[in-house]
Amino acid sequence: MADEETNETGKSEESSAGKPPAAKRAVPARAADGAGVGAVAAGHAVVIAQPAPLGPALPQVSRRGVLKVGFWAGLGVMLATIGTTIIYALYPRRAPANGGQQRIGTSEVSPFGGVIPVGTLDQLEAGQKIHNLDARAWLVRFDEAQAANNPPAKAGMIIALYHKCPHLGCTVPWRPDFSREDPRNSKTYAGWFLCPCHGSTYSDAGVRVFGPAPRSMDTFALTITGGRMVVDTSKITLGATTNPTRAINPG
Ligand code: FES
Repeated sequence: MADEETNETGKSEESSAGKPPAAKRAVPARAADGAGVGAVAAGHAVVIAQPAPLGPALPQVSRRGVLKVGFWAGLGVMLATIGTTIIYALYPRRAPANGGQQRIGTSEVSPFGGVIPVGTLDQLEAGQKIHNLDARAWLVRFDEAQAANNPPAKAGMIIALYHKCPHLGCTVPWRPDFSREDPRNSKTYAGWFLCPCHGSTYSDAGVRVFGPAPRSMDTFALTITGGRMVVDTSKITLGATTNPTRAINPG
């Protein structure tokens, strides 16, 4: 056995017959139980045992896995931000309740949905408006110019407009200084109902002239008896370009 060497299979290698013995090679080999890495030199196996990790075994996380989680988390945050922004833009925001106008004729007794007194004729001169918060109504009395812009209304007539924007429900204030062209007659003048939420714009009679609102401002049934004005908030007529025909003459 002096001229024989034994490999890992236990077979002897021939060193006779003129053939040199096979070169000794180092072959990596994994230990059967996975506990270490070994190297097999021809005929010898060396196993290097690795120490067992301390503490509980943690799941292995690959770099690809981390990138995937980061990507989807970032995408989720971005979509949530876009969604929140859209909802914020569309959701009705509260406008100043009276739009800077004088509050006259409020009632302490009649809830919205019923018949509500909204003031007397002497409180509403031609060209003036009353914003009644109980009735959620604008009482508008036309002067000559306003009536001319809203035919067939006549000067002195009165209309009761629901102050809720038909678009998404914001309270619509009166903006006496806001000026724009009236597409109905191509005249430019100041004084419009202007929704602060998305810019829908309405004439003195609540006729929509601009913006995303689907129709003109709605109107309430209005009666005038003995100089006292009363709005029936249970009787709402949807707004239309014919709003001026709903104005009544106080007599
Ligand atoms: S709520 Fe959108 S324009 Fe008035």
